[in-house]
Amino acid sequence: MERTLVIAKPDAVQRGLVGEIVSRIERRGLKLVAMKMLQIDEALARRHYGVHEGKPFFESLVAFITSAPVVVMVVEGPRAIETVRAMMGATDPLKAAPGTIRADLAMDVQHNLVHGSDGPETAAQEIALFFREEEILTWTHDVARWVLQ
Ligand code: RTP
Ligand code: MG
Repeated sequence: MERTLVIAKPDAVQRGLVGEIVSRIERRGLKLVAMKMLQIDEALARRHYGVHEGKPFFESLVAFITSAPVVVMVVEGPRAIETVRAMMGATDPLKAAPGTIRADLAMDVQHNLVHGSDGPETAAQEIALFFREEEILTWTHDVARWVLQ
């Protein structure tokens, strides 16, 4: 079973779209195993987006992600990383496929509502940045047998 880190970004919280994002994840059949609300500080933002350090959009990205509270969650399921990435759509909402969160609800490459880990290594690193292992729950998702083989 794979885990991924999802963040409903400051624009999602401000626009009242956290429920929509969580709801899409739940309705898809994925399992939530941890969730909390916090305001990311500059140090955490720089670590989380460290791979983008030096890029022209980096400082503005750090300012944006720290600008208001976010909701972070750990989502579990088979191929959870790819599944969430597909549900999010391309980084630029204009290029995102119809039906994705970004295409349906966003306009701008920075205000693109949601973050999802992009691979198994980054997922493990990002989850550890936001959650202690004991904050991640093990529970039986009783509907899973109606969703998965
Ligand atoms: P995320 O990390 O937030 O899930 O987004 P992503 O994988 O789709 O995109 P990534 O390349 O990792 O970029 C991280 C975030 O930086 C902002 N960005 N701005 N102005 C720009 O050209 C630009 N490029 C990226 C976006 O907010 C993107 O989500
Ligand atoms: Mg990324």
